[in-house]
Amino acid sequence: MENQVKERIDELIEILNRANYEYYVLANTTLTDQEFDKYLRELENLEAEYPEYARADSPTKHVGGEVIDKFKKVHHAIPMLSLPDVFNISEIEDFHARIERENGNCEYVCEYKIDGLSVSLHYEKGKLVYAATRGDGVVGEDITHNVKTIKSIPFTLFEPVDIEVRGEIYMPKKVLEELNKKRALNNEPLLQNVRNAAAGSIRQLDSKIAAERKLNSFIYHLPNPEDYGIKTHHEALKFMKKLGFRTNDSANVLVSGIDEIENYIEEASKKRDSLPYEIDGIVIKVNSLDSQKKLGMTSKYPRWAVAYKFPAQEVLTRLNDIVFTVGRTGRITPNAVLDPVLLMGSTVKRATLHNEDYVLAKDLKIGDIVSIRKAGDVIPEVVEAKKDRRVGTEKDFQMITNCPICGSLLEKKKDQVDYYCMNIHCSARKVESLIHFCSRKAMNIDGLGDEIMEDLYNMGFVKKIPDIYHLSDHKKDLIELEGYGNKSVDNLIEAIHNSKQNSLERLLFGLGISGIGDKTALLLAKLFKNINNMMNATYEEYQNIRDIGPTLAQNLFDYFHDEQNILLIETLKNLGLTMNYLGEEEKYHALLTGRKFVLTGTLSFMDREQLSAIIESYGGKTSSSVSKNTDVVIVGEKPGTKFEKAKELGIEIWNEEQIKKVITELD
Ligand code: IVH
Repeated sequence: MENQVKERIDELIEILNRANYEYYVLANTTLTDQEFDKYLRELENLEAEYPEYARADSPTKHVGGEVIDKFKKVHHAIPMLSLPDVFNISEIEDFHARIERENGNCEYVCEYKIDGLSVSLHYEKGKLVYAATRGDGVVGEDITHNVKTIKSIPFTLFEPVDIEVRGEIYMPKKVLEELNKKRALNNEPLLQNVRNAAAGSIRQLDSKIAAERKLNSFIYHLPNPEDYGIKTHHEALKFMKKLGFRTNDSANVLVSGIDEIENYIEEASKKRDSLPYEIDGIVIKVNSLDSQKKLGMTSKYPRWAVAYKFPAQEVLTRLNDIVFTVGRTGRITPNAVLDPVLLMGSTVKRATLHNEDYVLAKDLKIGDIVSIRKAGDVIPEVVEAKKDRRVGTEKDFQMITNCPICGSLLEKKKDQVDYYCMNIHCSARKVESLIHFCSRKAMNIDGLGDEIMEDLYNMGFVKKIPDIYHLSDHKKDLIELEGYGNKSVDNLIEAIHNSKQNSLERLLFGLGISGIGDKTALLLAKLFKNINNMMNATYEEYQNIRDIGPTLAQNLFDYFHDEQNILLIETLKNLGLTMNYLGEEEKYHALLTGRKFVLTGTLSFMDREQLSAIIESYGGKTSSSVSKNTDVVIVGEKPGTKFEKAKELGIEIWNEEQIKKVITELD
């Protein structure tokens, strides 16, 4: 009887996994919805009654339910590279000419560039063991619990191979539309585009949410083709398809020569709008894997592929009004209020008009029909007014003279285009600085976005930065606020508490020192290591830093010598905020410290002795033979038997690029 149960479970898994494969990978329907549901329910019941026979690759796992408490880091043995972008045919011709020069005439595979996020999938003996995001290319995050909810990603392959494949996870256009309809009804902010929506879904700790998002996948890259005796990328695609992955067969095309590439682009541009998923370009890859190897890569990109990006899309809409906002520095920005219009997967209602000169140069009038444009990630912009569509009722643009929030007279500095509200007590400026402090690239406090911060400011709970860290004292009041439940208040308080552990660069950027963006903040944090060193530096010391000119140096010096600012930093320190740099460098350091390395093959960028010395200077150990105690084997050109042994023992293998990245980050 028990055996029969096990057999039936195995049989149901087989039927349902096969049906999922047919439906989600091959787009064939083999079972009716009712049949599928009937089998699935039978399986769920048996698994509940006989948990000892439940299998990890059961299709019941697709529904989600697994909740994790944080994302584990995953190291990519082969870095996940991105592709260099090209924007026109002449740049593709340059690419083709270079390939011909360095490699001779060759075939390419043209593919759609799917607008989603890349994923690396790892299988052992044909079973999915883990899935990871790209992260910075070297270290990504484990997202297995969410990937398991994607029905086109097999739990079990058709062959029991050990393999890594890479591809794109995306959100179908329809899913985003429906999701946004629901969000609009619930007064929730709309998801901006398919890419952000997919990335947001994959970054959920609770896989139920990812399951609801109905994500899909295309697999397009095999990092270790030689392990399977594969000679071309096209073969690799076929091989992955044969294992059970969803490859984009109708779109992946073998071509030769520039004319065929051009034809492919033309066809793809025509089909683009009618595809059920968003594509933002075309990928062109050299087909022969020997040629790919010969062409090699730069530190960032393979030299055997390019991504052609479609030109920005434009749509027409009406400019209903121009309204003014006040930034944290007091800068006044005119903004176009538009008739909502769908552009590249997101609804556009507003677009920045930057400043008075910009509006005047474009001769925009309120009531004009305007064309707006968006290229990929770029924020939408107003291209021009369609003057031939004017009817005579359009109104001229008039720059304001007083702050729209506090009413004080605006000032325009000599030779500059922007107007400023100079009132440092202007509430708009204060709210904006608080929003900036909590923003994603600054302290990254989830739950303290624009509207909530405005409410908290207006109700007097948060008037200045340190008040954020006292919000837990107002828990009761917060729970009573509209839209805030017990749980979300707890989450907010936890997010605030966790932000105290942020590395220095986030705080530095969040303070909003004039001219200090997130990149400069990181540079300064890396250099000075802690806030005291930064505060005690002289003007000359700031100015000697690469990328810091006299104005920024003066801004820094002034900021850290202002009594109010010194007091603010002191207060934040007493509240327990980290004042030290603990970012990237620490992460790369950990990749070397205490780990045992073996080097094999010829390195092109330095000798093995030099590299050993560097590794040892960061607390790593090097040895000449591979054993099970070895942590990492670094492989150069023409590696010896150590490479084979490392593979046999399943030891982490780095190529030159990986070690180069680690030591340059530490340098
Ligand atoms: S190939 C080494 N093929 O575009 C080869 N990428 O900037 C790596 N993408 O990070 C990628 N569709 O997320 C490849 N058919 C396709 C793709 C594709 C979308 C994404 C991928 C990658 C980015 C390249």
